[in-house]
This record gives sequence, structure tokens and C-alpha cells, in this order.
Amino acid sequence: MQPEGTGRNVARGGAVASPATDLATSRILVVDDNALNLRLIERILGGAGYSRIACLSEPRQVRPLCERVLPDLILLDLHMPGLDGFGVMEQLAPITPPDDYLPILVVTADVTRETRERALRMGAKDFLTKPVDATEVVLRVGNLLQTRHLYRNLRTLNAELERRVAQRTAQLERAHDELLERLALAADYRDDITGAHSRRVAAGSARIGSMLGMPDREARLLQQAAVLHDFGKIAIPDSVLLKPGSLTDDEFALMRSHTTIGASLLAGSQFPTLALGQELARMHHERWDGRGYLGLAGDSVPLSSRIVADVFDALIHVRPYKKAWPLSEAVAAIASGGGTQFDPEVVAAFMADDLDGYVGQTEGMEWTPGENAA
Ligand SMILES: [Fe+2]
Repeated sequence: MQPEGTGRNVARGGAVASPATDLATSRILVVDDNALNLRLIERILGGAGYSRIACLSEPRQVRPLCERVLPDLILLDLHMPGLDGFGVMEQLAPITPPDDYLPILVVTADVTRETRERALRMGAKDFLTKPVDATEVVLRVGNLLQTRHLYRNLRTLNAELERRVAQRTAQLERAHDELLERLALAADYRDDITGAHSRRVAAGSARIGSMLGMPDREARLLQQAAVLHDFGKIAIPDSVLLKPGSLTDDEFALMRSHTTIGASLLAGSQFPTLALGQELARMHHERWDGRGYLGLAGDSVPLSSRIVADVFDALIHVRPYKKAWPLSEAVAAIASGGGTQFDPEVVAAFMADDLDGYVGQTEGMEWTPGENAA
């Protein structure tokens, strides 16, 4: 066996296939310390129709060149002084994008099994044995370029597919959000002239969640689910829901049932939004001190349900049985409820935030305290 770089560059073979039109302009880099070998391969490839061939006899220039423009194929000599082909492949590995396919065609007179295995392990895709056969050079180069071309096409198609999936997913998410809001609107509309109570409570809940350190995704889920907290009101008779005066005990029991009705309407879903909606519907009238509808206290009520206390919004807006409270009085009521009615940490987050984010639509508010927020 004769080492490379000693002038064994006689080509064998004759017939040379032309590359497909879209492959003829592929960037091909030939690396060999022997100038005669370089010229031979350049001539073979040029004669086969390839027009963008770069030759390097100094292997240390490969990486800087590839950092500027990655070729479509590298024909690489293995045995070179200073930096051998293995060293070149080692230098190329970190600058080759993981989702790219850069074929390296090793051109060597060293046909030992160890050499081939090592080259394959380091990223070589194929071999040419010196002295090279012109037909084989063109065929192997064509095959590798074809593979790279197909790979890149596939990558482009995948990227387009991912873009379309992301677009459709965003559309579905918007449809999902809108459907939940419209469901909530159906319940809201009967006793809320603006029909926006649930959306305001949901937006405010997400703000508090974020203030308490909830990741964005969790806060978004809370906002989506919180619009459903009063969904059970849809089953409460108008005679109770819209009653302007105080409720009798039976009527109040019926009003309270909007939590269990809402939870049962949302029960059994495998979707996180509806599952959380069920929990919020059931528990949003619990109190920190355990004197809420179910009697659950403190941490036994999940944080999401401790946040979605719709009292503030109910206080500052008109209801059939009450006028709107002045903002200052509503804020004072929330502040004084920390540690009894509300989780003190939730109240602290609420008080630390910009109240404009919770007030929303305030037109038509009257400034007289009321009671019995539902
Ligand atoms: Fe409620």
C-alpha cells in the first residue's frame, strides 16, 4: 500500500454520467495535500458538469472555509501532513448543524478495515480508493449529492409542515379559547349586563397567578379555565339568579348549587382546561378560614381556586341584587379579608398589582355598597 500525497493519481475508467441540473451547481470541496490529486479530481468533476469546485491542499484551511460557507460535499484525503483527514472531520463536527447532512467522501489509498471503520465513525459517508476511477468518482459524488439534496428537501418540507402545524394549532387554540368564553358568556349573560364578569375574573386570576410566580403556561391555563368558574349559574332559575332582594334559605341553597352544578357539567373531561374548570367551578366559593360552601380551609383548596375568588369583580360591578361598590371600599374589603376569607398571599399579590388590570369595564357603576356576591 502506498501512502497518499506521493503522486498516485492515475484515473481509471472512462464513461462519466452527467449530474442532474439541480446538482451541477452544488458546492464541492476537494482536500488533498497533493496538487496533482486535486487537479485530477477537479478535472473529473468539471468534465462531468460540476461548476463550483474548490480545492484545498492545506487541511488547516478547511474549517475556516466551512465556517464561512458549508459545502454540499467534501472529498477528503486521509493522510496529510500537519492535520490528517481524521483531524479535519473532528474540526468539522462542531460546526456542522445537527439537522444538516454534510457528506464526506474519503479518498484514500488506505483500505484497511480499521481506517474505514474509524472514518465512518467520524462522519465519512463513503470511500473512493486511490488510484481513483473517474466513473466511480462521478457516481459516488452524484449519489452523495443526491442524498444531500433529498435530505435538504425533506428538511424544507418538514419546516413547512411544522409551520403549518403551528399555524393550525394557534387557530385551534384561539377557537378553543373563544368557545370557552362563549360558554361562560351564556352563563354570565343572564345576570351580568356586560356579559364579561367571567372574562374579567379570568384575566385577573392570571395576573395574580403570574404575580405569585406561576409559569406563563400555567397562568394561561388558569385564565382559560377560570372563565368557567360560574358556569353552573346557567342552571339557576331566573327567579333566584335575578332576584333583586335578599334570598331565602332555600333560594340561597339553590344559588350555592351553581358550584356543584358547574363542576358536574364539566366533570370527566380529559382536557386540562376543562378539568381545571371543574375544580374552579367547585371550589371558587371556598374561604381560607374554612367557612366557604364546602368547608375546605387553607391549603386544602388548590392555589388556582384560592386565586379565582370572584368577590372583587362582583363587588365593583352592578348585580341584580346590588349596586356597585366604590373601588376604594372594594379594595379595602379584599384587604381586610386576607387570612379569613382569602389566602393572605393571594391578597398580597392582588394589592401589589396595578388595579386597573382588574377593574376593566366600569361604565354604569354606582358607588353604593351592596352584598351577596355570587
Ligand atoms: Fe360563583
